[in-house]
Amino acid sequence: MDRPATVATPATAREIILEIVRNMREGLEPLHYSTLAPAIYHVYLHADDMDRLRGIVPRIVEEASRALDAELELLNRASLAERLKIARRGEPKIARPEGGWRVVILENTDDAVQPGDIAIYSELALPNDANGLGNVLGGKVMHLVDLAAAITAMRHARRPCVTASVDSLHFLHPVHIGELIILRASVNRVFRTSMEVGVKVMTEKLLTGVRLHTCSAYLTFVALDAEGRGVSLPPVVPESEDELRRFEHAGERREYRLATRERLRSRKS
Ligand SMILES: CC(C)(COP(=O)(O)OP(=O)(O)OC[C@H]1O[C@@H](n2cnc3c(N)ncnc32)[C@H](O)[C@@H]1OP(=O)(O)O)[C@@H](O)C(=O)NCCC(=O)NCCS
Repeated sequence: MDRPATVATPATAREIILEIVRNMREGLEPLHYSTLAPAIYHVYLHADDMDRLRGIVPRIVEEASRALDAELELLNRASLAERLKIARRGEPKIARPEGGWRVVILENTDDAVQPGDIAIYSELALPNDANGLGNVLGGKVMHLVDLAAAITAMRHARRPCVTASVDSLHFLHPVHIGELIILRASVNRVFRTSMEVGVKVMTEKLLTGVRLHTCSAYLTFVALDAEGRGVSLPPVVPESEDELRRFEHAGERREYRLATRERLRSRKS
């Protein structure tokens, strides 16, 4: 995801393990009687970090699994009443995944990633998200797109941002239950108070690693001050060929969007 310029510091093995544990806590899925912990962690590192840590990846994976076990133990620890034997000790609430933890460390090929960035995507398409055909509802994907774009916009603006518009979304492939949904977002161009964020959605079959481009979307966000007024934003300076292409196309798309807004406004009046 796009981020303002910062001094990049390399990712350490310890940070990666802590990030995996934090991700597990955030991804807990409470059911009625128990809670499920996410089993699969795909960790994406900058190429430089990957090169530096390649030799100890098996150790990181092993220690991450131990840290996940220790965290589960902590989350399942007996309550004070149970320890004082006032209440009966119940079953552990959060179960270790049946097949064990699966931690995979991969190189991040995203252009926007910097040394030190640790991106973990562990959103799994769950049965609750399904339509009548057993595929993920389009609305669920739209929600994830808006969320990824909003996070990216706010990381750039460091202010609250609202969605002003979403361009059309075309789904090229269905997302099946059980597949990993990967979203990559970047600020393509800043205008004055508004910016265009592009989001690319990929799916990955967990057992084969096969990835498909499911859809892309362009969203416009406006950064607001405490009174809800638009505030001007720091620019994005395109450097790579891809960034330059996105920057130019964002300008063309903006003209079309604003013309549509004017048409809708004049119809109303
Ligand atoms: C988006 C919003 C802040 C724009 O407010 P506004 O009074 O129309 O403001 P302006 O006309 O001054 O536009 C502000 C900026 O937004 C851009 N903008 C406004 N509507 C837009 C649209 N439909 N598409 C693209 N850009 C748009 C303008 O071009 C301008 O950008 P710039 O400063 O970079 O040139 C306002 O319409 C709003 O609050 N909408 C609701 C947002 C929201 O709640 N989203 C979540 C929905 S649940």
